[in-house]
Amino acid sequence: MKKLPRVSRSHVFKNRKQILSNPLPLHHDNFNRLGDIFEVEVGFRKRIVFTRNAKFIKQVLQTEQKKYQKSTLQTVDLAKYIGQGLLTSNGEHWRTHRRMVQPAFHKKKLQGLLHIMHKAIKNELSRIRPNELQDIYPLMGDLAFQVVATSLFSRDDIKEQMNDLKEITEANQRMLIREMRQPYLNWWYKLSGKISTHIALSKNARSILDGIIAERIAENSDKDDLLDMLLKARYEDGSAMPQEQLIDEVLILFAAGHETTANALGFILHLLAKHPDKQEKAYQEVSQLNWEEDFEMENLRNLTYIKQCIEEGMRLYPPAYYIDRESIVEDEIDGFKIPKNTMLLLAIYELHRDKRFWDKPEEFTPERFDASNKKDYSDYYFPFGAGPRMCVGNNFAMQEMILTVAELIKKYKINTAWQDVEINPLISLKPKTVPLTFVPRV
Ligand code: HEM
Repeated sequence: MKKLPRVSRSHVFKNRKQILSNPLPLHHDNFNRLGDIFEVEVGFRKRIVFTRNAKFIKQVLQTEQKKYQKSTLQTVDLAKYIGQGLLTSNGEHWRTHRRMVQPAFHKKKLQGLLHIMHKAIKNELSRIRPNELQDIYPLMGDLAFQVVATSLFSRDDIKEQMNDLKEITEANQRMLIREMRQPYLNWWYKLSGKISTHIALSKNARSILDGIIAERIAENSDKDDLLDMLLKARYEDGSAMPQEQLIDEVLILFAAGHETTANALGFILHLLAKHPDKQEKAYQEVSQLNWEEDFEMENLRNLTYIKQCIEEGMRLYPPAYYIDRESIVEDEIDGFKIPKNTMLLLAIYELHRDKRFWDKPEEFTPERFDASNKKDYSDYYFPFGAGPRMCVGNNFAMQEMILTVAELIKKYKINTAWQDVEINPLISLKPKTVPLTFVPRV
């Protein structure tokens, strides 16, 4: 067996400032120096394996997925704030709940959510200030949150509670980032009561949801929204999810579903603004369709170029830019031993820009996803992950993003004076700001 190339602790320490602000260029440099797989010393006898090896990434996520599980980053660090739901659990607990939650996201069910989603999107987009330079990223954050909220609860009279929930979700994510990027301060975060403060915030979030769920149960009515489906889901013995578990799953849908979608939309809108020819092509597609109040599934299926723009946007800026796992048994890749209990970071951002797989990888070319190109990218394109733990909300997210981009392109010409958006790699890959101008089409 070959020895994995290693990045020493002193190299990590020397570059700590860059690691805190944006570690991606340093990782790129490490990959170019050391190859597609290497390990980084992060503490005494503690190492993380980084890889952009496409075959290995597929092996970990799909073909040999039984040898791997989610790492403690999610199952412990994140779970202490959002509970043990789909995203943050492993083993039988995860399998049982995946079986119960997944049907809520089937394409047929999403069809039923189309109108609720469309209304929420139009409502948020009405806050755009035409002809004015506006950072669109916060609005995309509100939009993505409201879409999850209305799809879950089909109510628009709980805005205040939803705003509180959003603030708590985001404050806890900011805390988690500090814990992950500055692990040497964790003793202080515990001692100073910072972690307890955030756990108390999580309790508030849970009690908001507890109230909303109790109201729904008392109503005893069929709503056909996501909450309805979760309430009707049954374990194999016929029993329903306990309320605490239901709250975990709902909190996770908010955490997993709002920031990722907002990030993707921010990057995609900037890319369309930067490429007026592609934007015009998208507009031509939208202008063929007729919708005002009601947006039908048929329309969604016809927006193939907009779908390609979204796919290409997520290639260049995958919100889940790293996927974490840990090995539960020993494994092997290309003559390198991966010992049991190894923490792995799968470098999706690197893979999506690898010139061995992509022609002119730095360019925004939505046409590469055109079905007539017949190119199969499934071995090195993982915006939603792969295998059994692939994003349960992927169709939901695509539906939401197509609707949002189509609504915007139909009404406005989107302009930007910025060549590039600055990236902010935190738990997910975010844009720092997305300043755009929306000029109404006449
Ligand atoms: C552009 C938007 C989105 C992106 C890029 C994205 C990406 C991902 C990725 C890569 C994973 C797999 C993580 C892993 O294997 O460790 C994942 C899992 C998950 N996502 Fe998404 N996601 C998006 C939107 C959503 C939405 C809208 C929802 C729900 C409303 C959602 C809910 C989930 C859940 C619950 C999981 C955990 C699934 C499991 O482990 O069984 N996501 N997502």
